[in-house]
Order: sequence, then structure tokens, then C-alpha cells
Amino acid sequence: MRTVRLPDGTQVPALGQGTWHMGERGSAAKPEVAALKLGIELGMTLIDTAEMYGNGGAEEVVAEAAQGQRDKLFIVSKVYPQNASRTGVPQACERSLKRLRTDRIDLYLLHWKGSHPLTETVAAFEKLKAEGKIRHWGVSNFDTSDMQGLLRLKDGTNCTTNQVLYHAGSRGIEYDLLPWTTEHSIPLMAYSPVGQGGRLLQSKALAAVAKRHNATPAQIAIAWTMRHANVISIPKASDQAHVRENAAAGDITLTDADLAAIDAAHPPPARKASLDIL
Ligand SMILES: NC(=O)c1ccc[n+]([C@@H]2O[C@H](COP(=O)([O-])OP(=O)(O)OC[C@H]3O[C@@H](n4cnc5c(N)ncnc54)[C@H](OP(=O)(O)O)[C@@H]3O)[C@@H](O)[C@H]2O)c1
Repeated sequence: MRTVRLPDGTQVPALGQGTWHMGERGSAAKPEVAALKLGIELGMTLIDTAEMYGNGGAEEVVAEAAQGQRDKLFIVSKVYPQNASRTGVPQACERSLKRLRTDRIDLYLLHWKGSHPLTETVAAFEKLKAEGKIRHWGVSNFDTSDMQGLLRLKDGTNCTTNQVLYHAGSRGIEYDLLPWTTEHSIPLMAYSPVGQGGRLLQSKALAAVAKRHNATPAQIAIAWTMRHANVISIPKASDQAHVRENAAAGDITLTDADLAAIDAAHPPPARKASLDIL
């Protein structure tokens, strides 16, 4: 599995697993755990979750999948903006640690910008880091100007990632956010890389490229997000056939002709647009 280097030198897999909509129904928990375990076996040891997903249920699914193999995992979780105050962050983190049945979160993100001052959130993240409860912190759904503001704050340069929507049907970040984060050596995490299994997978261009690689459109969609050295892709799959497909996407290298065909159908941004958010 190719890796991406975090600013402190830690290497993480360039391809991980999402968990949105897991842990929402008790009856689905078993297959969801099985899917995550299969993904781990196939090298997708970075797992993205959040206190929001399934109201904490997704973190419990992750805990179950992590049993007996916590040390090989890199667990990412997120705090709700409404909990991102100086006192709210540690309380939310404790609840997440309990649901995750672990003593540390590898990367803890602010899910999106809220009304609590960012200085408070960053100070709380730094305190949790000093206590060993989180190993790194970062943000999600931050546009370029938000990142610039963050880096001006005390300890703001310790931000380890920005997790944003990115797939061939939503390329706005290529205009300035992706070049800016590359310049600052901050990896991006691409969420919804298969466009949530929707219209993107009907793309004729993706289908044509897929045919050349004896692959599926979803695999091409994932490989496309991973073509940048500092992008980590986190597709979510509860279906084990999807998990197998997604893991194999990490081995696909797209050619210049493939990329040109995808550009023709899904053009890169010509101007700045505000960040797409789900
Ligand atoms: N920070 C944020 O604000 C934010 C927002 C959205 C998402 N995220 C994170 O990013 C992760 C991924 O994003 P997402 O869940 O929105 O969308 P996604 O990963 O693009 O798509 C997930 C959907 O696509 C299906 N799928 C997965 N692999 C497939 C394949 N090979 N072929 C066909 N269909 C496939 C899944 O079906 P099955 O489940 O049935 O296999 C599921 O319905 C989330 O789970 C979450 O961890 C973060």
C-alpha cells in the first residue's frame, strides 16, 4: 500500500476506509464490522469516523473491527463544531475514546467550522496531544482562506490534514486549496471519492478508462483521487465486494491519456469557487 507522509514524518496509507452511515442500525453492525476487517486485511488500515456518524454508533463499529489489532490501525475521528470549545473538545474526545474502546485517537479533526473561536479548539487539541489522548489533529471542510487563518494562530501550523470533498465530479479544490496545501506539506483527505456511489459512477469517461484497466468506474474514481502524492482517499463500503474492489484501486496508475479523457468529461476548475461541502 502506498503511503502518505504526515508533516511529523508519520507514514499513513494513501487509501483508507470511511464509516459514514455505519452504526446507524444494529442489524447492519455485523456486516459493517466484517467489511472494515476485510479492508484492514487488505491494507486499508486508516479508518475515518466521527462522533456524528450513527450518533456514535460508527465509532462502536470501528471499535469492534479494531479488536486485537488496534496497533496496526490509524484511527481518525471528528468533533462536532458545537463541541469544539476549550471544555467541550476534551469531553467529546473522552466520549469518542470510550466508544472506540481505545486510549488514543491517531488523528482528531474539527468536522467543520462552527462558532467557537478556533484558538480555543486548537488549544484544546494541543492539550489532548500533550496528554497522549490524540496523536495529531486537523480540520475538515476548510477552504484556502480558512487554512491561511488557521496557520496564523498559535500552534496552527501543527494542523496535520484538511479533509474535504474531492472526486472527479467536484474538483474545485484543484484551483487553489490543493496547490496551497501541497506547498505547505499538509496532506488532504479526499472524502466521498466515489461520489457516494451515485451519478459519478455512471460517467462514460470513467467507464471507458475502467475498460482499459480491466477495472470498475469506482476503482478509477478512487485511483483518480490518489494520483496526487499528498492525497489520502477514504471510500466507504459496507459491501465486501466493494471493499475488495476499493483496496485493489490502490494499485491502478492512470496514464496521461486516461487523465485527459477524464478532464474532457469532468473539467478542472477555471476559477475560484467556494468549497463544496456535503
Ligand atoms: N468530513 C466530512 O465532512 C465528510 C463528509 C462525507 C464523508 N466523509 C468521510 O468520507 C467517507 C467516504 O465518503 P462517503 O461515504 O460520503 O462516500 P463514498 O465513499 O464516495 O461512497 C460510499 C457509497 O458508495 C458505495 N460504494 C463504495 N465502494 C463502491 C464500489 N467499489 N462500487 C460501487 N459502489 C461503491 C457504498 O456502498 P456500500 O456501503 O453498500 O458498499 C456507499 O453507498 C465517509 O464514509 C466518511 O468517513 C467525511
